[in-house]
Amino acid sequence: MHDFDELIDRTGTNSLKHDFAAQRGKPDGLLSLWVADMDFKSPPAVIEALERRARHGIFGYSDPRSSYGKAVTGWFKERLGCELDADWLVPAPGVVFALNMCVRAYTKPGDSCLIQSPVYYPFASSIIDNKRTLLTNSLVLENGQYRIDFDDLEEKMKRAKLFILCSPHNPVGRVWTREELVAMGELAKKYHTLVVSDEIHCDFVYSNNKHVMFSSLPFNDNLVLCTAPSKTFNLAGLHNANIFIPDKTLRQMYEDESNLTGISQLCLMGLDACEAAYLHGGPWLEDLLAYLKGNIDLVRSFLKEKLPKVKLIEPQGTYLLWLDFRELANSEEELERILVEKAKLWLDIGGMFGPEGKGFARMNVASPRSVIKEALERLEIGFR
Ligand SMILES: Cc1ncc(COP(=O)(O)O)c(C=O)c1O
Repeated sequence: MHDFDELIDRTGTNSLKHDFAAQRGKPDGLLSLWVADMDFKSPPAVIEALERRARHGIFGYSDPRSSYGKAVTGWFKERLGCELDADWLVPAPGVVFALNMCVRAYTKPGDSCLIQSPVYYPFASSIIDNKRTLLTNSLVLENGQYRIDFDDLEEKMKRAKLFILCSPHNPVGRVWTREELVAMGELAKKYHTLVVSDEIHCDFVYSNNKHVMFSSLPFNDNLVLCTAPSKTFNLAGLHNANIFIPDKTLRQMYEDESNLTGISQLCLMGLDACEAAYLHGGPWLEDLLAYLKGNIDLVRSFLKEKLPKVKLIEPQGTYLLWLDFRELANSEEELERILVEKAKLWLDIGGMFGPEGKGFARMNVASPRSVIKEALERLEIGFR
């Protein structure tokens, strides 16, 4: 069993999560559980691959070899039973980069693009910043869990050129069922809406839930599938993502747009890390999932016992917990003030994920258990 209890000091390492509080308007001394990376070391095989490369000592322009495509597609086939063709693969420096490319490649300024909020905030900004029109299909919180309002989705789909799906969903933690995914796919097909499926969290699924890749459904002719090893193996700083576009014309349109940015070759270390992770990281991931489940169990039982007014939206996937503080704070400002000034915690405040997120906050539990324990104790102090 990998030692996920190890406390590793990340300060002074250019860590976005741990080194930039002042620049982001936060006071010193906050326990940082916001941005979605993990306070764990990557799998030993990844570290060894990077060490090997560092020792080689030459860091020239690099492109993925065929073994890279094999490793990536092999991972999704083995773990999720999804056959992806390596020819569909377009490596990218990140999923958010790819989302922006999709918006630009497949829509024109003024066109409508659809998201389901509350959702990971770059979804909205990729649309708004590119001067497209944002359409939202608000997720509905019912009996402690989120569901899709399909009538509303259909109305919006009629107008949307492009639909960015978050699967599994950050921040509400839903792992969409096959039925839900098929229903979304059929609506997209009916109204000729391109689906951009962001499946970056696909490897984090708990209990009886099963992640269904959109590409395993019969909608591949109108799909961009975004994957990356960055969440799964904690490689975000290496800028590596794998975008699958089955349709040749759509793939060419994406590549043309991507070429306009001036990006051609990718980060060599990212390529090495990705290949090693997908080839050898499976057992490490199993240990990680068990550990994260333990962290989630701890949060659930602590809140139930000590802070029953903070409601945990039960996560089916991801390591990001969506907490409902609406019984304890009257406004977003009050919630933020309590979290920062009293609890001394840095969480992502819910309104960042869209107006539907107001009164909530997102807590990243991919940290050693002792850190999560401390965060919960701080939360208790904050709301005492
Ligand atoms: C749904 C989702 N997509 C994309 C990203 C970021 O991807 P990248 O770092 O590859 O741009 C995140 C990070 O939290 C995410 O949650």
